[in-house]
Amino acid sequence: MTRLRALSLLLLAALAPAAACGPTGAVRAHAAQADTVTFPLEWDFPRGAIAPVTASRGMVVTTDRVASEVGAEILRRNGNAVDAAVATHFALAVVNPEAGNIGGGGFLVVRMADGTTASLDFREMAPMAASADMFLDSAGNVSDTLSLQGHLASGVPGSVAGMWEAHKRFGSLPWADLLQPAIALAEGIVVHERLALSLRAYEERLARYPATARIFLPNGRPPRVGERLVQADLAETLRRIAEGGMDGFYRGRTAELVEAEMRRGGGIMTADDMGRYRAVWRDPLRFGYRGHEVISMPPPSSGGVTMAAMLKILEGYDLRSLGYLSPEHAHLFTEAARRAYADRNAYLADPDFVPQPTERMISDAYAAERRRTIDRNRATPSAQVNPGLGQVPGEGENTTHYSIVDARGNAVAVTTTINSLYGSLVTVDGAGFLLNNEMDDFTAKPGVPNQFGLVQGAANAVQPGKRMLSAMTPTIVLDPSGRVLLVTGTPGGSTIITSIAQIVSNVVDFRMDVATATSAPRLHHQHLPDTLRYERDGLTAATEARLRAMGHALAERGGYQGDVQSIVILPGGYQSAVADPRRGGAAVGVGEVRRVVQ
Ligand code: DON
Repeated sequence: MTRLRALSLLLLAALAPAAACGPTGAVRAHAAQADTVTFPLEWDFPRGAIAPVTASRGMVVTTDRVASEVGAEILRRNGNAVDAAVATHFALAVVNPEAGNIGGGGFLVVRMADGTTASLDFREMAPMAASADMFLDSAGNVSDTLSLQGHLASGVPGSVAGMWEAHKRFGSLPWADLLQPAIALAEGIVVHERLALSLRAYEERLARYPATARIFLPNGRPPRVGERLVQADLAETLRRIAEGGMDGFYRGRTAELVEAEMRRGGGIMTADDMGRYRAVWRDPLRFGYRGHEVISMPPPSSGGVTMAAMLKILEGYDLRSLGYLSPEHAHLFTEAARRAYADRNAYLADPDFVPQPTERMISDAYAAERRRTIDRNRATPSAQVNPGLGQVPGEGENTTHYSIVDARGNAVAVTTTINSLYGSLVTVDGAGFLLNNEMDDFTAKPGVPNQFGLVQGAANAVQPGKRMLSAMTPTIVLDPSGRVLLVTGTPGGSTIITSIAQIVSNVVDFRMDVATATSAPRLHHQHLPDTLRYERDGLTAATEARLRAMGHALAERGGYQGDVQSIVILPGGYQSAVADPRRGGAAVGVGEVRRVVQ
């Protein structure tokens, strides 16, 4: 045993008794990693380059250190994981205004220590005056801007209703207390690098909307690192939510301000639309993957179903023996994704409007049928991969994710978004929050790609009161003994599903620790366009060449794919987490442990 290892064991021995109902025994990575895992030499995040944060009494991992600290403080005050999620959500709306939000929506998956699982849909809803052709011009062409920028781009926000519902069912601390950290932050934060950079990159766009410019470009320019950003109107709105709960947002002054903003800018959302909004508990999407139970989000997110369809196909192969990101592994992953997205794009939509083929799409029998069409040596052109479940209905960066586990073992995964960075760019004047541009996730016209290049069908057409299809995939994986193993999720538009499928496979198939699983290079294929996208230097030249020879069209991404925030529970019960090294998030543990025995 090395000296370091001996010291860390001593440290752990000292810490373990402090974890009252938490972990026992030594901290050990959840399993030895397969030696088939190697990353390309030039890859930006070599194995071992980032260390997970390990803790004994709870963990919060988000895209922002301040928000993670807010959540961890709630855990220290004996709040549970849902309390921490609520406080974290509102904090992110302040410190991460480009994605964190009260003007957007999202999905929450929870697994309580008593075994209760639930999933909450707080996705935005089309206003009642919305219509299927609202983004088409008189010639029937899709507008380049209307679903993305300005007042028509927004669905009725769901986040406040989502947090309210989650808290009502599972929360333990008083609601108003959970809003206090966000209110304090809205009164003034010190701008950090990531926010300064994104405000600068969006300066010209933010300047187009006076109410947005007044807040985010004070003195006519984006604040620099170290300067203060004050969001006084947002603080007031958060106070109304603290005092009035959900009604503090969906009724009275806030709803009136939304309607007034819409009138000024030619939008269609009304105070009545706001008053009508409800978050909906849905049966979680559950499926088995190599003896593990995966719990994720059902429609109106496509995330869980599409990931399940992919993994069910992949379950038929011994991925581990192929070698991580070997040509054979990358090929099978791509073929599974191509087939799952073909079905996703055709069938999936708001289940309250369109019957969903969920059970069939995630069944072993269907996976076997799809698998039979895969050639181990040749790419199948997407043009030859049709939706496989019969009649298609209608025929004849930015988002943020947070994962939280508390000392009792309650686990929460939340992905939330206003869609593009800074959403529709419209701030509700007097209420201080940005509205989403989630209407772009609907099919503006069947066959015409949206901003993520997704070619979707009529099932996902705009209808009054309908929720647009999402790719968000907040996910919790249980190990074969039924204990929480992984809590995960990410932004990334259409790539969310492939990113999370890879995280699950990295942990389950390749037995990677949380840091390796997160830093591993990612792939993406979404049926159309027929392109296998990979991160810069994420594949070796030899693998690329072999994949091209198999008939894949490859494209290297300029940037990265995703911003995954995961927690893995180690065998002794300790929580081990990393924020994705691709961006600037942070894992904050309660009862942090410095060293882990690998
Ligand atoms: O719901 C969805 O699938 C998208 N609106 C998510 C947007 C997103 O992740 C943007 N981030 N890069």
